[in-house]
Amino acid sequence: MDSRRVALVTGAGRGIGRGIALALGAHGWAVVVNYRGNADAADETVQSITRAGGRAQAVQADLAAAADRSRLVDATLEVFGRVDLLVNNAGMAPRVRRDILETTEASYDEVMAVNLKGPFFLTQRVAQAMIALLEAGSVEAPKIVNIGSVSAYASSLNRAEYCISKAGMGMLTALFADRLAEYGINVYEVRPGIIDTDMTSAVKEKYNRLIADGLTPIARWGQPNDVARAVLAIAEGYLPFSTGEVINVDGGFHLRRL
Ligand SMILES: NC(=O)c1ccc[n+]([C@@H]2O[C@H](COP(=O)([O-])OP(=O)(O)OC[C@H]3O[C@@H](n4cnc5c(N)ncnc54)[C@H](OP(=O)(O)O)[C@@H]3O)[C@@H](O)[C@H]2O)c1
Repeated sequence: MDSRRVALVTGAGRGIGRGIALALGAHGWAVVVNYRGNADAADETVQSITRAGGRAQAVQADLAAAADRSRLVDATLEVFGRVDLLVNNAGMAPRVRRDILETTEASYDEVMAVNLKGPFFLTQRVAQAMIALLEAGSVEAPKIVNIGSVSAYASSLNRAEYCISKAGMGMLTALFADRLAEYGINVYEVRPGIIDTDMTSAVKEKYNRLIADGLTPIARWGQPNDVARAVLAIAEGYLPFSTGEVINVDGGFHLRRL
């Protein structure tokens, strides 16, 4: 069996997830690159890692589907034999931004399934696998990182379902941190601010303006690698006495100012 530690990163074909996958790959982790529909992007992530001498494998799975989540974990264990790190990164914005008075049940259900229900049950499944691997002596100090958002507390009236899903991610982190501490499995939330990815491309002008007008103390867009470095610090074990912790990667957006 390969002695590399193994990371399962959801939504790693593009954006923040790709940044996380590349950073882990460059630091000797074998990476499972999960994606939903964009196989070319996932292949590109895999190629970038393998070209640099790392190991990676793309696995298609829709996190909203229970059978897909199961298949994703099974594939990870089949290909690499272990899982040392789960990064719940995949997420979606509502397909159509609608005022909270017009939010549809279909959009609510879809966003909650991908952003909250999927990560909850994937975490449950991976945690069970990690406990079994710990008992077999196959892994040491596995970890779970959830990618939340400043939307957990910042109101955006035209994507209520997204905000609610990210607020739920905060509790998901606290609950699993509490439950898994006895096994030595630490759980963290990394909470990005405004990051330059496909997800924010539709609102680029708006955010350019807000940043120029002083929205964030650090006056620039965040990049996927800003988030990746925080995840890497956790993955490499630099926060051993912290669990349930929220790491803000937001240029100081969360600070209240007078
Ligand atoms: N960008 C920001 O400003 C920002 C800020 C705070 C938090 N976040 C959070 O950071 C995470 C990544 O966001 P991003 O900006 O990198 O998004 P992105 O560029 O839109 O990429 C989303 C990724 O998630 C995957 N994905 C979406 N739905 C999925 C599903 N049902 N099953 C499996 N994979 C799925 C996509 O797969 P395909 O490529 O196959 O479509 C893609 O790889 C999300 O949780 C987001 O909420 C983003």
